[in-house]
Amino acid sequence: PEDVRELLLSRIKDVADYPKPGVMFKDITPLLADAKAFAALTDALVALAGRYGATKIVGLEARGFILAAPVAVQAGIGFVPVRKAGKLPGATLAQSYELEYGTAEIEVHAEDLSAGDRVMVIDDVLATGGTAEASLSLIRRAGAEVAGVAVLMELSFLPGRLRLAGALGGAPLDALIVV
Ligand code: PRP
Ligand code: MG
Repeated sequence: PEDVRELLLSRIKDVADYPKPGVMFKDITPLLADAKAFAALTDALVALAGRYGATKIVGLEARGFILAAPVAVQAGIGFVPVRKAGKLPGATLAQSYELEYGTAEIEVHAEDLSAGDRVMVIDDVLATGGTAEASLSLIRRAGAEVAGVAVLMELSFLPGRLRLAGALGGAPLDALIVV
């Protein structure tokens, strides 16, 4: 609803020229520090988890963890971390993806996802879509199904939604706020 969107938007701070000149950083820490706003965000994502019929929540390191973990607890389903490479001790699946300069790699514990799981991916921001797209590959390669992707904020001046379209395979992509 519109009042939730307004509340969330009012608690996101634009920081100019961070982390480098020309970039407008979206700082979510004021939202996290506001119990009402964080709860409203969690409620909205839990509602989406229900709509997706999700059986697992995947959070994307690092900011996605903060948003996703309370959703998993409130929805009563398990949380699976997708981590930056080299942080998980067990058998992992790894996926690299293109950044503006160079490449990055993310991993998941293979045993945390299995056939029959319907997975909801949660992150704070959809920008170029590279991170989310790589996470969808991991989910599929683990044998699980992508139930949907939800982000707090979609940067509509970047082609993230377009980039994700193929990897979504018809699953929904929801942004609580589009800027
Ligand atoms: C940021 C943001 C998203 C991602 C979006 O994470 O939190 O995860 O970039 O960008 P993309 O759509 O172009 O992939 P980042 O890796 O910068 O840092 P974090 O560890 O603080 O989440
Ligand atoms: Mg991130």
